Amino acid sequence: MEFFVEKRREVMGHIEKFMLEKMYDFLKPVDNIWQPSDFLPDSSRDSFFQEIKELQESAAGLSYDLIAVLVGDTITEEALPTYESWLTMVDGVSKNEDGGWMKWTRHWTAEENRHGDLLNKYLYLSGRVNMRMMEVSTQYLIADGFDIGTGTDPYRNFIYTSFQELATNVSHRRVASQAKKDGDTLLSKMCGVIAGDEARHAKAYKYFIEKIFEVDPSEAMIAFEDMMRKKIVMPAHFLREVGLKIGQTFGHFTDAAQRLGIYTAIDYVDILKELIEDWHIESVPDLNEAGEKARDYIMNLPTRLLRVADRMKNPMLEYKFSWINS
Ligand SMILES: [Fe+2]
Ligand SMILES: [Fe+2]
Repeated sequence: MEFFVEKRREVMGHIEKFMLEKMYDFLKPVDNIWQPSDFLPDSSRDSFFQEIKELQESAAGLSYDLIAVLVGDTITEEALPTYESWLTMVDGVSKNEDGGWMKWTRHWTAEENRHGDLLNKYLYLSGRVNMRMMEVSTQYLIADGFDIGTGTDPYRNFIYTSFQELATNVSHRRVASQAKKDGDTLLSKMCGVIAGDEARHAKAYKYFIEKIFEVDPSEAMIAFEDMMRKKIVMPAHFLREVGLKIGQTFGHFTDAAQRLGIYTAIDYVDILKELIEDWHIESVPDLNEAGEKARDYIMNLPTRLLRVADRMKNPMLEYKFSWINS
């Protein structure tokens, strides 16, 4: 066990050098990147109330399921303190403020923080949401934390974040196109720029894992296999509403996303395929026996998962969220 952690610390120290060099390829300068206020009505303008009226008129056309997904996405984004504190606990993320890992963690958090901020303000102005109920769910989710099966292992953690950033890219992108169809161009633009951030972040995490594959291929492969066996659970899987137990709302949220085609079982397989391709899983050299076995499992997984996805029925609409006014 100790060797396991020691080796990972060594690998993380090795990659940290590249981190410092490469970090700004994946992040945008703070002064130029978009901010929530670029999209929202400006309360210092005379036209403020008129702009809110227009925002509400557009939001009135959004379907019930889309609002449900949007609230779930917002709460997921707003649980950012959980993700930041979790990243700082990862083995090999040295507590040195000038080190690459701490710098990355802070800069990543700073970019992500704009997502929940923008979505929350939009929902507040939209008139569609019971904000108090949503806020209770957010507070619960942050307080409840999460358990995604990675422990403090950096390999498992960054495989998880690679997957998850791709998943959020897909879901924000789909919300953007659905919002456009429903006639809300503002929301569509907002979710489009958020999706763009997620795509950059996915690139960064995929790069970290690529580097890990270069120096510790068998262990990286085994970590990938292990995460896929456990299944990549979404960060909001503990989601709940007032009066409910941990996780009781989560299934209803994912049902709405599946029904609308925002994030489906097929998307899960597509993301897995993308990772297999980007990390060149098929041709990773120098694997030991366990590494080879792990590779076999991963390579066969997409076909197996697609068979299951084909048999899945679309969930029916039957749940009323406490978050939604009408
Ligand atoms: Fe985000
Ligand atoms: Fe993200």
